[in-house]
Amino acid sequence: MNEAAPTIQVVPGQVVPGQVVPGQVVPGQVVPGDNSTLAYDVERVRADFPILTQEVFGRPLVFLDSAASAQKPRQVLDAMDDAYETAYSNVHRGVHRMSQLCTDAFEAGREKVARYINAGSSDEIVFTRNATEALNLVADCFGRAFMKAGDEVVISALEHHSNIVPWHLLKERLGIELRIAPIDDDGNFLLDEFEALLGPRTRLVAMTHVSNAIGTIVPIKEVIARAHARGVPVLVDGSQAAPHLRIDVQDLDADFYAFTGHKVYGPTGIGVLYGKSERLNALPPYQGGGEMIASVTFEKSEFKAAPHRFEAGTPAIVEAIGLGAAIDYLESLGRDNIAAHESGILAYATQRLGEVPGLTIIGRAREKASIVSFVMENAHAHDIGTIVDRAGVAVRTGHHCAQPLLQRLGLTATARASFGIYNTREEVDALVEALGAVSEIFG
Ligand code: ALA
Repeated sequence: MNEAAPTIQVVPGQVVPGQVVPGQVVPGQVVPGDNSTLAYDVERVRADFPILTQEVFGRPLVFLDSAASAQKPRQVLDAMDDAYETAYSNVHRGVHRMSQLCTDAFEAGREKVARYINAGSSDEIVFTRNATEALNLVADCFGRAFMKAGDEVVISALEHHSNIVPWHLLKERLGIELRIAPIDDDGNFLLDEFEALLGPRTRLVAMTHVSNAIGTIVPIKEVIARAHARGVPVLVDGSQAAPHLRIDVQDLDADFYAFTGHKVYGPTGIGVLYGKSERLNALPPYQGGGEMIASVTFEKSEFKAAPHRFEAGTPAIVEAIGLGAAIDYLESLGRDNIAAHESGILAYATQRLGEVPGLTIIGRAREKASIVSFVMENAHAHDIGTIVDRAGVAVRTGHHCAQPLLQRLGLTATARASFGIYNTREEVDALVEALGAVSEIFG
């Protein structure tokens, strides 16, 4: 197991050993449809998510698209309603009581995020609009401060477009070059080949922690260690890791780490950029406006230190409070229990989908988070998605905003089932049953 993978504390008697290793199926140990070996009472978790009682085309909703965006527990919805109803005002601006209450709740959200990823200080947590904005912020500010024509950024073949396009923009603007760390045909990240790309012009490594399209867990701690050995800082796109794995940015020694609120069961409109204090404070501001300045004259502006220098304008106040509530919720379940639960579901889904005639799983990396991409003979991914939707099953189809990865794998589209804290083995069974209709029509 790589070092970035979660340390799993199995609840005694509740998890069958062998089900807790991401991506590893232990034949014979998975009982079809039986949730009794999962790491917590999944039905109690499901009861916290109002949307899960919805029906789609007269069938119970089976939501297998949490990698695109996770559903929200009542605790998050209530925290946001409560903020609007009892303690709402703009933040950092008023001496009045409401502003102070709301500022305290907003900053408590920042503290919770710092705790969630074990940042050294909440001053290292910048609120952004989403992970995409966090990645763009680093590309823009780091590029302006430290890069010129011919300098290189190393990314991987696994990246989401949000960690490719900002570098293309920088290439157009500054003439930088992109180097692509390869994967093998199973989707495993190739560490030595990555290392060979680090050269005298490498200014930054910008890399996903977990592939959104095929679930590969990148050995990010080792990536960071090898980059640091050459004096190269590392920006991690943790969008798909933050919901599933225990993240410790200090242990990883990440220079920057980005993720988004809506994938960790929080609201949309809020993302996170962690940066080491010295890294953040070495960057120029991203946008100018209120709240990020120390002083302004008509001649010039002086800027605050991080994180405020990167938070121009009124922030996503209530969303930060909602994100804090989502983190409280996840921590109440236990990060290791979540990892164990999802590993069990992933193992079960890998086994069951592997039994479907004509279905090929795309991405069989040794270390995977809870994502299973697949294709079927004779059926386009969009047809698969449309047919299973009629049975109430929501999966994502297409290129998953990772077109270069799909090209690398010789594909244009897959269907993708992704699993979260509320998914059950019965839901995997429902997907497999719904795929029977795809085989009947296209097989
Ligand atoms: N990046 C998100 C996904 O993988 C939207 O679906």
